[in-house]
Amino acid sequence: MKEELEGILTDIEARTFSSADAVEAFRVEFLGRKGRMKDLMGAFRDVAPEDKRELGPLLNKVKTAVELRVATEQALFNKKEAVHSSGLDFSRPAGGVQQGTHHPLQVVRREILDIFKNMGFGVVEGPEIEDDWHVFSGLNFPPEHPARDMQDTFFVEKNPDLLLRTHTSSVQVREMERREPPMRIIMPGRVFRNEAVSARSHCMFHQIEGLYIDENVSFADLKQTLLHFAQLFFGPETKIRLRPSYFPFTEPSAEVDVYWGLETEVDKRITKGTGWLEILGCGMVDPNVLEANGIDSKKYSGFAFGMGIERITMLRYQIGDLRHFFENDKRFLDQFSGER
Ligand code: PHE
Repeated sequence: MKEELEGILTDIEARTFSSADAVEAFRVEFLGRKGRMKDLMGAFRDVAPEDKRELGPLLNKVKTAVELRVATEQALFNKKEAVHSSGLDFSRPAGGVQQGTHHPLQVVRREILDIFKNMGFGVVEGPEIEDDWHVFSGLNFPPEHPARDMQDTFFVEKNPDLLLRTHTSSVQVREMERREPPMRIIMPGRVFRNEAVSARSHCMFHQIEGLYIDENVSFADLKQTLLHFAQLFFGPETKIRLRPSYFPFTEPSAEVDVYWGLETEVDKRITKGTGWLEILGCGMVDPNVLEANGIDSKKYSGFAFGMGIERITMLRYQIGDLRHFFENDKRFLDQFSGER
């Protein structure tokens, strides 16, 4: 009987079924009222008691194997039947897979970082929640400077020393206090200002900050670096100009414009009739800032610059409304699917 049971086990495994009817026939063959399991149970009753201990479990194993096989095959054929009667045609080619796209801000951010990385700048990031020192005091902002006003800055309610950074210049301070020059770094990040949301301004946007400190860094180095950047980003013929400006942490300070042209009515409108568009703020790091952060201003000098990613992206792709960047409307984002 042992051989017979083992033979049945192999047989069950080897069987294949071509239809639900074949499965049913198999079920009746083994589990039916006159089926083989019934015979085997009968035969088992007459087995000598000392053999029952070995044959009992084996008999159970056969029964479980048959039941499992029947249940599995029935489920399989039920499913096939359901698919068939659903009328779905599974031989049809699949529809295209919807691929995600890079956000335009991400595309531009990466391109700008790549340009500066190739010039030897290292990428550094800092926290979005900052304290007064890193955003203002360490950058030479006088105590009564308007940027510190509640009107412009989001403060953390429970602790007036904590605020959302209003510019990425805070990362400059963190880096200066963390290590010694020479340093040549580029610092991307999100910044926050208490401004009404409109086509031209938002309470949250992105900046990229640059800082280069070494012996004998000059204003000419700054201008050359920014010209090189502008020509790689906007095209080899791009012209820039520097206009005197003011930031508490740079002296002298400048704003940089790129020449956009005056050919169309739109050119005239966006450049306010000048042909020039502002792209960033920059300057020589104020010696007060170097000293406040433990850097010898007699030995070292440096330049810094900061630009808004949204602004540059709007110029690059002629996007008229800043709010598009934050609405995640697929119809807008899909237009950048060709960008890397
Ligand atoms: N932090 C300045 C701003 O947000 C930009 C800037 C950075 C200017 C570095 C000079 C040097 O407007």
